[in-house]
Amino acid sequence: MALNTTNPTHTNAWAALKAHFEDIKDTHLSQWFLTHPNRAEKMTIKWDDFYVDYSKNRVDDKTLELLLKLADETQLGEAIQKQFSGEAINETEKREVLHTALRAPKSASVFVNGTNVIPEIHNVKNQIGTFSNEVINGVRKGFTGKPFTDIVNIGIGGSDLGPAMVVDALQYYKNHLNTHFVSNVDGDHVNEILKKLNPETTLFVVVSKTFTTQETLSNAMTIKAWFLKHAAMEDIAKHFVAVSTNIEKVKDFGIAEANIFPMWDWVGGRFSLWGSVGLSICLSVGPDNFDKLLLGAHKMDTHFKNEDFGKNIPVILALLGIWYNNFFNAQTEAIIPYSQYLNQFATYLQQANMESNGKSVDRTGKTVNYQTGGIVWGEPGTNSQHAFFQLIHQGTKLIPCDFIGFVKSLYGNVEHQDKLMSNFIAQTEALMKGKSKEAAINELKAQNLAENEIHKLAPYKVFEGNKPTTTILIDQLTPESLGKLIALYEHKIFVQGVIWDVYSYDQFGVELGKQLANTILKEFGSVQADNGHDASTQGIINFYKRLKTS
Ligand code: F6P
Repeated sequence: MALNTTNPTHTNAWAALKAHFEDIKDTHLSQWFLTHPNRAEKMTIKWDDFYVDYSKNRVDDKTLELLLKLADETQLGEAIQKQFSGEAINETEKREVLHTALRAPKSASVFVNGTNVIPEIHNVKNQIGTFSNEVINGVRKGFTGKPFTDIVNIGIGGSDLGPAMVVDALQYYKNHLNTHFVSNVDGDHVNEILKKLNPETTLFVVVSKTFTTQETLSNAMTIKAWFLKHAAMEDIAKHFVAVSTNIEKVKDFGIAEANIFPMWDWVGGRFSLWGSVGLSICLSVGPDNFDKLLLGAHKMDTHFKNEDFGKNIPVILALLGIWYNNFFNAQTEAIIPYSQYLNQFATYLQQANMESNGKSVDRTGKTVNYQTGGIVWGEPGTNSQHAFFQLIHQGTKLIPCDFIGFVKSLYGNVEHQDKLMSNFIAQTEALMKGKSKEAAINELKAQNLAENEIHKLAPYKVFEGNKPTTTILIDQLTPESLGKLIALYEHKIFVQGVIWDVYSYDQFGVELGKQLANTILKEFGSVQADNGHDASTQGIINFYKRLKTS
């Protein structure tokens, strides 16, 4: 059964939220902390090794009550049930949405067209695990009998970003294999990677759900041609494997059926790192750690599915996002991990979030009259403090931030960790409290500045504060906690899509550019001048054609 279609702005909760927003929009967070001493405790969710404090958000009890009512009125509970049980909620593509099944235990059952898919998922998981162990242990060898030293993941979008982010995040847990990612159709990207490789000891994993993606196929062809300069046709079987739903196309490319790791239509590309698309993760950190990643995600799934919405981490984060996006008109939200390991986390979330909820037509086919998906961005702290934090503190835009940190570092360097975490905590305090003009003047006075100088400088030293942040503090970065964290954001995206009444699991918006690129590519080789382009586009094409060979 389809998801229900409620225009969120037609709910009672929405109207009440609008009125309530007018009441509280100017309230300063520090005021709430003064008047409600138990605010922090009430607005903190402690779950497993997660400590999620959302009290530094511009909400009070009433806001939360109304946001939860909005979730009820838009039938979020039913939607969660439908997603987990394998109903075809991706209606525009007529597909189930079952990335959660990829991390479900063997004992679970999830039915697609009357068949329990869990045994099949676990068979493939075993296939991935066995293959990875053979590569890691050197049982599988390259065409000259040498063990593999390097893995190259060839894919783009969901077939790249998830595995690349996780491999980077879990580098502490990595084995001896060097893992590389080739994604961009920019030939310089693939050539820079090839420069580092020895064909005798490199395994190539071609990842493409459709196996029709221009970037991936071009890179795979270029790499295959490079490989064949050093090896024979029959050696391909030892060095190339594929992850895809499109068995025929993979075989056409020259990869044997035995070297194909399947994936399924009912898992969207950007949610697919938990299955065969995660092969490069499994190769990098080994099957045990890959299992732990899946276990963490499954624990978050269970929390999301069963916990009351008032204590449900993905639901609360999603509702806060809607509050800022639709009532405060915040355009963007920042993700600031205080861990260099999560360097690629925001980039990964950009696809997950913006490809999912960057939609403007609702589930009845009408153009929405409200804002949907926000813009997600971010960089690790403390680096970002020295880059864009100025604007968050003193700029004109409201940018809610998620601060993600870990109590323990992995190498146990307490001195560095204390410095890192003092910054992590201080930033959210500073963003919330700000600094009054009076405090700024007193600071300047303490520097013995002249009175006129003090009054000239003071306005620039004022911090308005009242900038919302959510703190997600986790015990340590492990495969399991990373699995939980990724699943948390996946569910946040789903909740927001349900409430915004959009289809979160298609991505038609990426098609038009692809079609036009194919047309233009053909024109590069033709002499025909008028192809119906606008004057700007035609001018750029002409300029490129003229200069590319000069
Ligand atoms: O960017 C569009 C998209 O279809 C993404 O949704 C997907 O993750 C990516 O391209 C790669 O697709 P494929 O895995 O089929 O090569």
